[in-house]
Amino acid sequence: MYVYMCTKTIKDFRMLCRVTPKAVRVIGRRALSSEPQVARLPDIDYDYHELEPFISGEIMELHHSKHHNTYVTNYNATVEKYLDAEAKEDIATMISLQPAINFNGGGHVNHSLFWKMMAPPGKGGGGEPTGGLAKAIDSRWGSFEKFKAEFNAKAAGVQGSGWCWLGYNEATGGVEIATRSNQDPLTDLVPLVGADVWEHAYYLQYKNVRPDYLKAFWEVANMDYASQTYDSASN
Ligand SMILES: [Fe+2]
Repeated sequence: MYVYMCTKTIKDFRMLCRVTPKAVRVIGRRALSSEPQVARLPDIDYDYHELEPFISGEIMELHHSKHHNTYVTNYNATVEKYLDAEAKEDIATMISLQPAINFNGGGHVNHSLFWKMMAPPGKGGGGEPTGGLAKAIDSRWGSFEKFKAEFNAKAAGVQGSGWCWLGYNEATGGVEIATRSNQDPLTDLVPLVGADVWEHAYYLQYKNVRPDYLKAFWEVANMDYASQTYDSASN
């Protein structure tokens, strides 16, 4: 952190030598901040091995410490470039960086949710929805089992890499299944349940059989989190 802040200070000083009014405003905002606005890899509330036998500890460790961490690193590096381009009023570069911000920022947001949306079996994982969410699912699909069947069919059908979500629609007051490609985040629904269907989430254990991974996912899906998030969003 110290090295990072020093690097930023030197860079900011260099930028001040060729300032524009907008650059001064940008640098001023950053200088006033006590902490750089950087993404950080979050801790997980359970140990990597605690989702076994449904998701192996090896997958969890690689997924969190390597894959998610890479999204965090690349997001921060891209934002740094973006801020430099903004300070130089280099609009073309700012536009060219936006796909990388979406991809890596989405990867960070999605995975940060994903760790919370799972829990060890018996400690929140593998349960059934309660309260308002249980009623909303029953109203829409008839039963939790029928909902899971449709969710798994849509998740299995995601072409290439992506995510499948159960989300709360604040406009309609209903719950919906939604899929997204790559790391596009779910921005128009409140995420309640999310299944990462990138191969890195399951290949070491389930090889190419994504449906088997999805069947196991429900043994660790944190329905306490989903039910509580639904209550917060709908009240
Ligand atoms: Fe992932």
